[in-house]
Amino acid sequence: MNNLIEDLNWRYAAKRMNGQAVPQEKLNTILEAIKLSPSSAGLQPYNIVVISDQETKNRIFKEAAPQPQIPDASHLLVFAAWDKITAAQITEYMQLIATTRGISVESLAKFHENVTNSIEARSDEGNFNWAARQAYIALGHALVAAATEHVDATPMEGFNSAKLDDILGLTEKGLKSVVIMTLGYRDSENDGLSKAKKVRRSKEELFISI
Ligand SMILES: Cc1cc2nc3c(=O)[nH]c(=O)nc-3n(C[C@H](O)[C@H](O)[C@H](O)COP(=O)(O)O)c2cc1C
Repeated sequence: MNNLIEDLNWRYAAKRMNGQAVPQEKLNTILEAIKLSPSSAGLQPYNIVVISDQETKNRIFKEAAPQPQIPDASHLLVFAAWDKITAAQITEYMQLIATTRGISVESLAKFHENVTNSIEARSDEGNFNWAARQAYIALGHALVAAATEHVDATPMEGFNSAKLDDILGLTEKGLKSVVIMTLGYRDSENDGLSKAKKVRRSKEELFISI
């Protein structure tokens, strides 16, 4: 079997973790995969909070996300979407493209205008929902990267976003948490799901071939 498919069969959403730390090198690979995630227009309208501080993980577990993986995870990643998209953020992105590719900002005028128009065509809420969808693609990259590193990763929507934003001071930063992910190592003895078979719809049911 292809290595990637083996790794994806190995991974599962661990319900219990054992407190073991993820080595920095493996964490760096997962974060790099998140950084390389594609996003619409390339804007990356999100930030990721990387939490290793035990007190913060404990507080999040107690006050915002009562899921047992959190205190026993090595790291907790919080994917937070920009709550609105500003003209300054778009301009900064154009400058980044120009600097990275050694081209003039002026040569990007048409692209700048198109991105601005599509952002302005939506409400702040519409843009936040759009940004959240981009953040989920980054989450997918992180899940696959973690699997290839044999690091356990549990994606989670079961948390109180307003409380989490409060604990992390995200609102002041123009961010809203949309999905979180623990990184660590499975506690096979105490996690009944660690040896459970994967449940997936058949290819015939999932794919529509035309
Ligand atoms: C967006 C998203 C949100 C999820 N939220 C939770 C959660 O809050 N708690 C949890 O234990 N698992 C959560 N899961 C894990 C799913 O239940 C799990 O991925 C699914 O049942 C498939 O199983 P597998 O990932 O072990 O193959 C979530 C998964 C995704 C993709």
